[in-house]
Amino acid sequence: MSTAPDDVETVDLVDPDTYLNRDMAAYWRALRAERPVHWHPPRGDVPGFWVVSRHADVLAVYRDDRNFTSERGNVLVTLLAGGDAAAGSMLAVTDGERHKDLRNVMLRAFSPRALARVAEGVRERARRLVAAAVEREEVDFATAVAAHVPMATISDLLGVPQEDRPHLFELSRSALSADEAGRSAEDQWSSRNEILAYFGDLVARRRAAPGDDVISSLVTADVGGAPLDDHDVVFNCYSLLLGGDETSRLTTSDLVHAFTRHPDQWARLRGGEVGLDTATEEVLRWATPAMHFGRAAVTATRVAGQDIAPGEVVTLWNASANRDERVFPDPDTFDLGRTPNKHVAFGYGPHFCLGAFLGRVEVREVLDALREQVRGIELVGEPRRIHSNLMTGLCSLPVRLLPA
Ligand code: HEM
Repeated sequence: MSTAPDDVETVDLVDPDTYLNRDMAAYWRALRAERPVHWHPPRGDVPGFWVVSRHADVLAVYRDDRNFTSERGNVLVTLLAGGDAAAGSMLAVTDGERHKDLRNVMLRAFSPRALARVAEGVRERARRLVAAAVEREEVDFATAVAAHVPMATISDLLGVPQEDRPHLFELSRSALSADEAGRSAEDQWSSRNEILAYFGDLVARRRAAPGDDVISSLVTADVGGAPLDDHDVVFNCYSLLLGGDETSRLTTSDLVHAFTRHPDQWARLRGGEVGLDTATEEVLRWATPAMHFGRAAVTATRVAGQDIAPGEVVTLWNASANRDERVFPDPDTFDLGRTPNKHVAFGYGPHFCLGAFLGRVEVREVLDALREQVRGIELVGEPRRIHSNLMTGLCSLPVRLLPA
């Protein structure tokens, strides 16, 4: 299992199997110590790219939207393919003035009033789902609880009618999730198109009769003096699903898994020894569901003394930055009372996660519901990991939740 520094060259970060078969913690430790800006060599048709592993360097590139762009993709899959079809339209892959304008419009749509309502929904749902899970002898926490919180939250935000939700939920499962190795690319592609078509239809309904939801704010917004067209609105609805579903789902499962392995931390949470907000941050650091994001260099620049040529791809490994011993004492210890906790689970700089508030609410409310309703958590089967080079976490987590 262990990755000795001398086989760092052979680790293939593009292949999702790597994350299932390797001790990645040892690999990242070796990179941080010896090659903080590592050239991942080309393999077959896959071009080479830079791998940035230290916290300070990851922050520096996230912050630097002068020398780096997101418009040629922001994850390995799109960066290595040479671009993202939604560039200049979808927030996460748009830069400059248009990014600022679009981000402001979306932030306005996330008004405190709208967020307060959505957060209340999260609280109520987390309690209900945990209560139902406690009633059962055994439960797959990943599919029975964690999967339902984020989709319902995003649906509330977007104003998706209740009757459409089961269908959208199924489509999202098939389009986004990397739960199973070998899922057909055609199925994923067709589900993605169905989601876009669904949002197209919902956008038309909101144009005809605006309501109090994010889609209505987007269809009535001005960006740089012009309204957003349907294409832009649809892509940005989809981006909320992309950004908010799998990330929160994986974090929520991971926290339960962490408690089965660290009963001392569960006791601290239950006993009220650690605050929910502090615990939430450690859960996010520990889970780091989005292992990496990335950029393409637009000018000749340097990262930690390493020359980067224009056009080169630079990947930023949150998974490693969040375990950087230069920033986190005992980084491999799950410590719910950890403070300060300057993790980069939500990224940093101009593209800092737009849904960070909601992501935090989701984690906090699940922690709170567990703390109130559950006495102990037991693993009753083998957890199953997802298959992805972007996200990490569990798609199946069989547990028994002992009633409080
Ligand atoms: C951006 C992580 C939840 C919507 C990001 C980025 C990260 C991230 C690392 C930066 C991407 C980059 O720099 O290229 C997470 C995690 C979450 C979470 C770990 C939960 C635990 C959410 C939720 C939503 C959301 C709930 C929506 C409701 C977005 C959007 C962006 C983004 C729209 C793009 C922002 C921009 O480009 O300006 N997220 N996210 N995320 N996230 Fe999240």
